Amino acid sequence: MKLIIEKNEDSVAQVAADIIKKEILNNKKMNICFATGNSPLKTYNNLIKMYENKEISFKNITSFNLDEYVGISKENPCSYHYFMHQNLFNKIDINPKNINLPNGNGDIKKNGQEYEKLIVQKGGIDLMILGIGVNGHIAFNEPGSKLESRTREIELTESTIEANKIYFKNKDEVPKTAISMGLATILEAKKIILIATGQSKSQAIFNTIHGEITEKNPASFLNKHNDVTLIIDEKAAKLLKN
Ligand code: PGA
Repeated sequence: MKLIIEKNEDSVAQVAADIIKKEILNNKKMNICFATGNSPLKTYNNLIKMYENKEISFKNITSFNLDEYVGISKENPCSYHYFMHQNLFNKIDINPKNINLPNGNGDIKKNGQEYEKLIVQKGGIDLMILGIGVNGHIAFNEPGSKLESRTREIELTESTIEANKIYFKNKDEVPKTAISMGLATILEAKKIILIATGQSKSQAIFNTIHGEITEKNPASFLNKHNDVTLIIDEKAAKLLKN
């Protein structure tokens, strides 16, 4: 696992966007899996600027997303569908036909299986962008998620509901379950970058780098992949040794 420690959120976002840009320039038709949440937001702003400056194009990029809440509509401002369009897709030249998110409505089991098939059909994920939860989750793979897990419905833990309530009117409105790519789905990506900033992530980052590989910390399974780069700020690196 490669580790890049940057001074602050802004420099993390610059480094992450530069890596994504380089990958896109190397393969203009690549499949990218995007994450939602606060962690990648500034990176997305940099990608939008790069697009506006004609440094990169998303015209032939196919996008996937890690996860989506179950039971809320695409138009709901709290949905990840809405988040991605608002914060990235509406501001770049990606073809709407090439945008794929897991479907959190209807038959979730079937949606999960179809999403897995679609990823394979499109040739797999070339570049995976991840955040990390305070409890070590990646996507919505909460502690206890299996290494072999695939896209499926997952019950959100109390700590995730607590962390995500800021996006909703109140805690009761946070959906109790989500549809999420599994750990096996994530680890099949060719290249993975994980963005983490702020002190609240420092324990999860410490556990991922220095802890054991265990279902208790889903992010620890990233140690099994041969091309993972963690891009973190000094606050998230606070507990690391040396
Ligand atoms: P955040 O969420 O980027 O909003 O901190 C990350 C996550 O929960 O995976």
